[in-house]
Amino acid sequence: MINYGRQSINHNDVKSVIKVLKSDFLTQGPVLEKFEQNLNFFFKSKFAVAVSSGTSALNLISNILGWKKKDLVIVSPITFLSSANCILQSGATPHFVDINMQDYSFDLIKLETEIIKLIKKRKKPKAVIVTDYAGHPADWIKLKKLKNKYGFKLINDNCHSIGASIKKNYGYAIKYADLVALSFHPVKNITTGEGGAILTNDTKHYRLLKSLRSHGVVKNSKMLKKYGPWYYEMRYLGNNYRMSDIHASLGISQLKRIKKFVKKRNFIANYYNNIFSDKSKFNIPKKRKDCEHSFHLYPLLLNFKKIKKNKKKIYYEFLKNKIKLQVHYIPVNFQPYYNKVIKFDKKKFKNSLEFYNKQISMPMYYDLNLKQLKYIKKISKKIFHI
Ligand SMILES: Cc1ncc(COP(=O)(O)O)c(C=O)c1O
Repeated sequence: MINYGRQSINHNDVKSVIKVLKSDFLTQGPVLEKFEQNLNFFFKSKFAVAVSSGTSALNLISNILGWKKKDLVIVSPITFLSSANCILQSGATPHFVDINMQDYSFDLIKLETEIIKLIKKRKKPKAVIVTDYAGHPADWIKLKKLKNKYGFKLINDNCHSIGASIKKNYGYAIKYADLVALSFHPVKNITTGEGGAILTNDTKHYRLLKSLRSHGVVKNSKMLKKYGPWYYEMRYLGNNYRMSDIHASLGISQLKRIKKFVKKRNFIANYYNNIFSDKSKFNIPKKRKDCEHSFHLYPLLLNFKKIKKNKKKIYYEFLKNKIKLQVHYIPVNFQPYYNKVIKFDKKKFKNSLEFYNKQISMPMYYDLNLKQLKYIKKISKKIFHI
């Protein structure tokens, strides 16, 4: 079966993990610190806090920003559930804004209009969570201008975009956003099994994140000297969001290959672009000139009228040929839970709905070889009559 995504594990990854298994520390030892240093080096951030998942990263971000009941945080419907759930879990309310049909991130005109409307109602949003969908950086220069104009926190859900760049800068995410969330789930551009991280340049945020990752506990040499070596203080209500040294060791060896991973993903994307070049039937992913796409996903939009088949039929035809597609995403605000707790006008989400109705994700992962790609091409030609 060719899945829509999967990990790539080589001999060095295995060696790296085995080394930790034979060492003194399985969790929160020197390897975790080294992974965090390497993340800082690659993403040009001052601080990285590795955690148990991308979801943990987003939950911790919502925690340190102190959102509470009646606060509003803006988020896109075309993202994974966690980007919006972290807002609800903090007690605040997600406010959804439609996407644009270029990079599938926010429609920036709708975003600004919505912010102005909210400010008029004395409901200024506390933050905007931006997902760099599929691995394409959003328009961060314009987003930063909006942040400076209206004064909200800017968060980059960068879970899809590890290895993407703006003007060759792989550290673009923390250059523009206050906080960045990463995921290292196996289908992502690098993996630690389960895992995630938060990037920040703010010392206060860093200290708080480190404490909250481990039950809100604070421990320092001054305390130990005064009260005894066993001493620690719980100052905040945290949780166990820790990443183990086992996971971090895989992260270290995976991060070494990130540029190679992204290069191959771009090769696969170009291969697909050639297959799906008929503009009357397909919309292929667009790229802004100043960006390098990291192609966590290859989102393909289908014109079903022209293709004369519906999405379900296409999905099953690929599956019959052992190719498993996926759809990213059902708009989060249309999910039954959200539909129940948040009232919204469906007409305001025309692009998100159109996108969901037309989108499929083609298989995209480093280990897809030319033989498999040729096979996908053969099956696609048959299914789409191209
Ligand atoms: C955009 C986005 N945000 C957050 C997450 C959550 O990451 P994790 O699965 O590591 O919790 C994901 C993962 O699917 C994601 O795609």
